[in-house]
Amino acid sequence: MNGVTGRMGYRQHLVRSILALREEGGLDLGDGTVLWPEPVLVGRREHALRVLADRHGLDPALVSTDLDAVLADPATEIYFDAQVTGAREEAITKAIAAGKHIYTEKPTATGLDGALRLARLATDAGVRHGVVQDKLFLPGLLKLRRLIDGGFFGRILSVRGEFGYWVFEGDWQAAQRPSWNYRAEDGGGIVVDMFPHWEYVLHELFGRVLSVQALATTHVPQRWDEQRKPYDATADDAAYGIFEIEGGVVAQINSSWAVRVNRDELVEFQVDGTEGSAVAGLRNCRAQHRSTTPKPVWNPDLPATEVFRDQWQEVPDNAGFDNGFKAQWELFLRHVYLDEPYTWDLLAGARGVQLAELGLRSSAEGRRLDVPELTL
Ligand SMILES: NC(=O)c1ccc[n+]([C@@H]2O[C@H](COP(=O)([O-])OP(=O)(O)OC[C@H]3O[C@@H](n4cnc5c(N)ncnc54)[C@H](O)[C@@H]3O)[C@@H](O)[C@H]2O)c1
Repeated sequence: MNGVTGRMGYRQHLVRSILALREEGGLDLGDGTVLWPEPVLVGRREHALRVLADRHGLDPALVSTDLDAVLADPATEIYFDAQVTGAREEAITKAIAAGKHIYTEKPTATGLDGALRLARLATDAGVRHGVVQDKLFLPGLLKLRRLIDGGFFGRILSVRGEFGYWVFEGDWQAAQRPSWNYRAEDGGGIVVDMFPHWEYVLHELFGRVLSVQALATTHVPQRWDEQRKPYDATADDAAYGIFEIEGGVVAQINSSWAVRVNRDELVEFQVDGTEGSAVAGLRNCRAQHRSTTPKPVWNPDLPATEVFRDQWQEVPDNAGFDNGFKAQWELFLRHVYLDEPYTWDLLAGARGVQLAELGLRSSAEGRRLDVPELTL
């Protein structure tokens, strides 16, 4: 596991996924076999890795700053990458050459060429590969998918996504995201960060994205880094995107680190269909059927007489939901060891990188761009 000292690598992948699986006694494959994940913590700072190993009672021998040596060890079966995006392609390329199965955070590379190259290399090498698409496993989106699968919406017309929150500049109060996120030269930017998520959310729930039109901008041009030193924010911190989806669905998604939250959750998608509508967030999903849709009449001279939010119905859980990252890890491990199907691979990851790249180009050129279908 490379990059476990980072925000995602530590919290979601090491603690909430791999260590959580160990706390449950391993992953029971149901055929009498139990998989016991034994993480090897890889990174640049030995001390930081040792602290983590110590904190979680992991074998101190399974800590290394030498990726090549770990990859050369036949006992290591899977290479996982949660490093900064810019360091990913080189490390995954090495891991594929060493014959390891690959599981990685998104974006899989800093450009489409690199992302496709990784997908081809891994496929040619015959290793298993998977890319984190955690939003698909969020309770809110699982409930939304249930509505779609049950035919609740009729014909889906549009999707409106609102993502974001205020990320502090770092001078007055410390920023809650790493500073590299705001430097284009270090792989930062909200388009590169979020469009890969929007690609798989739209693709999996509504259909292939056919075109993109985006306006990316940097609202906050100066920020303060982890050492409280000022730096120029060279990457976009907000993106306003319109996506055409097969079947005539139009999606519009705002992504911003410079917006204050006036929503129930940090991300929300409103889906409108001929038979009903729903608003899904990270955890919750509420719906309004055609038969219970009120008939508001526009009259700015009168105060609103209805509480519109109260006219929606909560979609029940009807199931237990595990951490989304862990749920996807389990499916990946089952893919590796049981050969179960798995569609969220490096080609799917390349689609996300493609959408980010085209989104930035659309913004720079001020026009709508087609999204060609990717093949290996
Ligand atoms: N799936 C998601 O929802 C999600 C959310 C946030 C970030 N991410 C992705 O996860 C990856 C890590 O993001 P993060 O927010 O955890 O970042 P982070 O800065 O907290 O962690 C980065 C990790 O990479 C390591 N690293 C390796 N080379 C480095 C270098 N040259 N400079 C700095 N650090 C280096 C760091 O030591 C650290 O372990 C990114 O690719 C990001 O796109 C995914």
